[in-house]
Amino acid sequence: MNRVEFYRHQLGEDEASSWRKVLETVFLTLGPQVATFERELGEFLVRGRTSATVPEVVGTNSCSMGLLAALRSFDIGPGDEVITTPMTFVATASAILHLGATPVLVDIEPSTGLIDPAAVRAAIGPRTKGILPVHLYGQLADLRALRELADAHGLFILEDSAHGIEMERDGLRPGDQSDAAVFSFYATKNLTSGDGGAVVTRDASRASRLRRLRNHGVSKAATDRHGGTYQHWDLVELGYKCNLTDLDAALLRPQLLKVEAKRARRQALVDRYERNLPEAIADLRGPSPGNVPWFIERRGTSSHHLFTVHAPPGRRDAILTRLGALGIGTAVNYRAIHTLTYLKERLKLAPGSFPMAEELGDRTLSIPLFPTLTDAEQDCVIEALADAWMSS
Ligand SMILES: Cc1ncc(COP(=O)(O)O)c(C=O)c1O
Repeated sequence: MNRVEFYRHQLGEDEASSWRKVLETVFLTLGPQVATFERELGEFLVRGRTSATVPEVVGTNSCSMGLLAALRSFDIGPGDEVITTPMTFVATASAILHLGATPVLVDIEPSTGLIDPAAVRAAIGPRTKGILPVHLYGQLADLRALRELADAHGLFILEDSAHGIEMERDGLRPGDQSDAAVFSFYATKNLTSGDGGAVVTRDASRASRLRRLRNHGVSKAATDRHGGTYQHWDLVELGYKCNLTDLDAALLRPQLLKVEAKRARRQALVDRYERNLPEAIADLRGPSPGNVPWFIERRGTSSHHLFTVHAPPGRRDAILTRLGALGIGTAVNYRAIHTLTYLKERLKLAPGSFPMAEELGDRTLSIPLFPTLTDAEQDCVIEALADAWMSS
């Protein structure tokens, strides 16, 4: 066991008792807990706003499957292109590929790691159907710029919002300026049920299609069919089996009440890292060599899902190894996805295609960030990173 784990979940008695109550009920899946969680998440997304319409939320078993179902709802397929970023988890591109469409990668802004709207503009062509931005580490991409491009060219925007539900930028939140946004409740996410996800949209017909797509494409869920007299169901299109369960929803519901407090703690930890790391590591007090800064620049309110540092060029992996030896949990979010074997072969993108994403992917490392990380544990991480930095 590491001295400081990369991530520690915080599911406790509130979540356990909510979960246990479902065991006393009839429906374990696609039942009332799912419907209530969907309503509560929609309400969370418009918190503090008086006039906003509450978006529709469709719970899924992961963000990966939510992305796939959402892309299906735009009817994309072979010959279509969707513009996205190489600085993401593979699921973003896999969803496009599974439908036979082509992910067209474009480079990132080096200061934030977010998709660069100028690069998106340059990549729009006759086959482009949509834009799939990723809100990396919990900062929203520039949705106003992307919306202008999408409107000018008749494109959809699907947000990969796996890294948070909490964020806001230029007055916008996930789902505000897009056709749909997808969240992840994977084990290390700010809100978690181990695995889980949700699609949010303000388009009621898309929401009802997504409800069907997540349940094979059948016309009625079991809960609709077993209210009294049995009702026949029909298969009306080819769908998936990727719904959220009531057990997952029961774990998620109490967490919605704690999101803001946990975000505040994450932010305090990030502030502390950014203040104390340069005190411990002299390099960080000067300019970063290359194009990416030592730390990503902030844009708006972040969910602070991950905290990353950009190592000096060529030294990231040695630093990771030393941190592992010192008992500190780490991760890499992410190596640019077009450099991974399958995508390299499938997309045929040579090294150097996206220099900013490649530099960030070669230099980035993620260190522990979660609300129950204590100041003492964080000091331990800082001390270990300083050691690894000097000795690598
Ligand atoms: C940016 C991004 N997109 C998509 C996913 C896929 O999420 P899930 O594990 O819920 O399928 C992840 C998960 O880590 C992610 O980080």
